[in-house]
Amino acid sequence: METVRDMDRMRGLVERARAAGRVVGLVPTMGFFHEGHLELMRRARAECDVVVVSLFVNPTQFGPAEDYDAYPRDFERDGALAEEVGVDYLFSPGAEQMYPEGFQTSVSVEEISKVMCGAIRPGHFDGVAAVVAKLFNIIPAHKAYFGQKDAQQLVIIKRMAEDLNFPLEMVAVPTVREEDGLAMSSRNSYLSQEERRAATVLYRSLETAASLIESGARNAEVIRGDMEKVISTEALVNLEYIVICDNIYLQPLPELSGEVLVALAARVGVARLIDSMVFDVE
Ligand code: PAF
Repeated sequence: METVRDMDRMRGLVERARAAGRVVGLVPTMGFFHEGHLELMRRARAECDVVVVSLFVNPTQFGPAEDYDAYPRDFERDGALAEEVGVDYLFSPGAEQMYPEGFQTSVSVEEISKVMCGAIRPGHFDGVAAVVAKLFNIIPAHKAYFGQKDAQQLVIIKRMAEDLNFPLEMVAVPTVREEDGLAMSSRNSYLSQEERRAATVLYRSLETAASLIESGARNAEVIRGDMEKVISTEALVNLEYIVICDNIYLQPLPELSGEVLVALAARVGVARLIDSMVFDVE
């Protein structure tokens, strides 16, 4: 595996691979790898000839009062894990290269960036959309791999890629969970032992939604109400939202039908955790 810091070299390597007829897969990350990231890399490894992982903690997607400085980082360990999975290139540019003096372009995927996490973290998804658009230009891959866990991010990036004609195939990879159901996240490292235990209630509430839908429930208020009841059993978990919506426009669905996203966000101590499930409802 080669670590690449320079974006021109990175683009050159990918262009040469493409010219040689090789299929290139990109896994964008902010590092501090866990099984969820490794699963994205394994999937890319299985489907592509050349796998590029980008590792860049993107400052523009963090609000002024958010955890950019505290965001967990361990470059050595990340490099070793990526190499073990068989990644070819680890692209890790400096912030000054990504955002040189004078940078002022924004990418805003309007309506779907304003709801759910976007309502609580204004500007967050503009930062995500801009950095992902830059990565798609620097690394002109055939396929890009994203976790289903960040459900709203996935919907926004798909929209952005379609609207801006990026010729990449988006691959959504199912959420990887701990044994007790907690979705893997770099931010789980902020949880105390007690908070870590309490956080499993998020998965249990999604399981509640799953069994209600399985047994025929279609009314969003009823499902949300039962999920809230489950979450309220844990005093350490402060629910921010539960949204039941379609999985393209993120419009609330009073009655469930089609591809339905059930997504939630909650604060547990200093950690802000998100989780979701997608259901095909007839
Ligand atoms: O999901 C993430 O890790 C980040 O939001 C991403 C897509 C790498 C953009 O910085």
